[in-house]
Amino acid sequence: MKIAVLNPGSMGITIAAALKFAQNDVYWLNKSRSPATIDRVRTLDIHELGSLNQLGNMDGIVSVCPPDAAEAVAKQVSASGFNGLYLDANAIAPDTATRVAQIIGTAYVDGGIIGPPARTPGTTRLYLSGANRVQVQSWFKGSVLEVVCMDDSPNAASSVKMCYAAYTKGIGALILAIRALAKEKNVEEALLNEWNISQPDLPGRSEMIAKGSAAKAWRFSGEMREISQTFESGGLPGGFHQAAAEIYRRMSDLKDVPDPSLAQVIDEILCA
Ligand SMILES: NC(=O)c1ccc[n+]([C@@H]2O[C@H](COP(=O)([O-])OP(=O)(O)OC[C@H]3O[C@@H](n4cnc5c(N)ncnc54)[C@H](OP(=O)(O)O)[C@@H]3O)[C@@H](O)[C@H]2O)c1
Repeated sequence: MKIAVLNPGSMGITIAAALKFAQNDVYWLNKSRSPATIDRVRTLDIHELGSLNQLGNMDGIVSVCPPDAAEAVAKQVSASGFNGLYLDANAIAPDTATRVAQIIGTAYVDGGIIGPPARTPGTTRLYLSGANRVQVQSWFKGSVLEVVCMDDSPNAASSVKMCYAAYTKGIGALILAIRALAKEKNVEEALLNEWNISQPDLPGRSEMIAKGSAAKAWRFSGEMREISQTFESGGLPGGFHQAAAEIYRRMSDLKDVPDPSLAQVIDEILCA
């Protein structure tokens, strides 16, 4: 199969590697991409497409980009004459997935990725749902990426991704917000002393969350808005994740700061 990955970020490049391992011809589209993406692609020998029109020759496309960009990417693909299977593997709300499906048409397959970039077996799962899910599953046969085929619902995979990340990234934002609040109220030491007695994992956990999320917070902010919208469409309050989106937005300038400390992250949250 000829499959294009749009656009190979830290997760997308491992999806491209899994497709290549499974004997597909893998492509990427070099349209306004940064030096970081070009460097990532150089680590993997995949084919470059120079224009959107060339997407028309592909059997499949995988969209793995910031959630905010999922609809715009789908619109570009729709205008390109592509008529193969389109896997959207982004962290998007089921309603966003429905809009992407409307843009793409019947070739849409819903996806959601859980786990770190897929380099080691057993770490990373791609959830798939929709009528063509089994065909897409076969693209990854034998690779490190574990594929979980759900049902034929057009947005079940996105829904499970939203529920999962609502906890992992939502709790991360909450813990960082609490650390910022303790600093603002001049009770950091007292809070840490109390945590050490009654919540002994939280001091170390807040350090780990700060380090793990600082460079990706710009992208998490959009994901939190998608989760908020998912809660609201389910008749539940979206405010938890609206607040989480704001915490990550305040951290977004840390995207290119090497190894920021928890103290730097707290300052960003308080100063924005
Ligand atoms: N990384 C993870 O651990 C992880 C885990 C689970 C799910 N995911 C999902 O995978 C998706 C991508 O994550 P990632 O880690 O690969 O992100 P990433 O490392 O930040 O890469 C994002 C890629 O998308 C491109 N991009 C940036 N802005 C864009 C835009 N406006 N339109 C189209 N493409 C754009 C970037 O290209 P340039 O930088 O060249 O502009 C880059 O190649 C997200 O939906 C995320 O939720 C990631």
